[in-house]
Amino acid sequence: MRGPGTLVLGIESTAHTFGVAVASDKEPHILSDERHKYVPEKGGIHPLEASLSFMKHAPTVIRKALEEAGVTPRELDGVAAAFGPGLGPCLRVGATAARALAAYYHKPLLRVNHAVAHVEIGRLLTGARDPVIVYLSGGNTLIAAQVGRRYRVFGETLDVALGNFMDHFTREAGLAPPYVVGGLHQLDRCAEGGKLIPGFPYIVKGQDVSFSGLLTHALRALKAGHRLEDVCYTVREIAYSAIIEITERALAHTGKNEVLLVGGVAASPVLRKKFEVMAAERGATVKVVPPKYAVDNGAMIAWTGVLMLRHGMITPPEKAYVRQRWRIDEFELPWFT
Ligand SMILES: Nc1ncnc2c1ncn2[C@@H]1O[C@H](COP(=O)(O)OP(=O)(O)O)[C@@H](O)[C@H]1O
Ligand SMILES: [Mg+2]
Repeated sequence: MRGPGTLVLGIESTAHTFGVAVASDKEPHILSDERHKYVPEKGGIHPLEASLSFMKHAPTVIRKALEEAGVTPRELDGVAAAFGPGLGPCLRVGATAARALAAYYHKPLLRVNHAVAHVEIGRLLTGARDPVIVYLSGGNTLIAAQVGRRYRVFGETLDVALGNFMDHFTREAGLAPPYVVGGLHQLDRCAEGGKLIPGFPYIVKGQDVSFSGLLTHALRALKAGHRLEDVCYTVREIAYSAIIEITERALAHTGKNEVLLVGGVAASPVLRKKFEVMAAERGATVKVVPPKYAVDNGAMIAWTGVLMLRHGMITPPEKAYVRQRWRIDEFELPWFT
């Protein structure tokens, strides 16, 4: 049964997941959550193939999300979609569906930033108030915190994202796909029992991290005959430590005492433990978005749509274009007054 309140349908389609959900401003907030995941036969995401898969499944996923919430399209108060950042062909499927629904049913259209949505669902579900945000996913690696009406960036990757790095390495090492088994990433799994190999590059430049040199080095080490679990362990310790280091400095710099982990890699229990050790030393707390909502999903888009609708952040369908690059700090957050 649906509670009363403002109801927004949200569509996620930035990369590998076509997700649709209905959210409400009233408890329990998330009224449905349907997902279709595109899994490439081999290698990484092929944007065009992903978009074709999304197109095929979109009508069913949208219908199911409405049914599960017990809502008809006419009962909606708004339609939201992630308009960026993400892969062009994928973004366009969700954007087209949202524009069509909004125009046909005369509903306000909410143009959601995917990175902001990862943060907002994290704040909703963990109750974090004013955290240093650590957003780690397949496509993003950034440390941010609210300053005024924006999430300001306090460090990011200079090349590949942490999740992409982990996926790429485990794939090349013959461990994946699947990348995650039983809630544990193949890198975390393989690292168990491994030992540190000296001489791997640990790259932190100011507040930024870099993983591409580490990837090259690790693949070379495998070819040179190092034990797989030792390479996994070394790579993991270096990559996670670099993230912890820049987060710790962001805490010191901003004077905040909460860390919020969001994005797919936040589901790593190993990484979480490292954050807890660091935070305990600083008297800070760590909040982690539940694993189900750490990865891409429609609920985070629908919920951010609810917040945007409340503040009148509506975009006419003819002006709602997608943006493949759309940084988190380019988005105004009127809910911080
Ligand atoms: N339990 C886990 N531990 C570590 N990494 C994980 C876990 N679950 C998912 N991931 C990683 O999260 C990433 C996907 O996160 P998601 O937020 O959906 O990504 P994006 O939006 O950037 O495509 C992938 O790199 C995946 O391997
Ligand atoms: Mg994401």
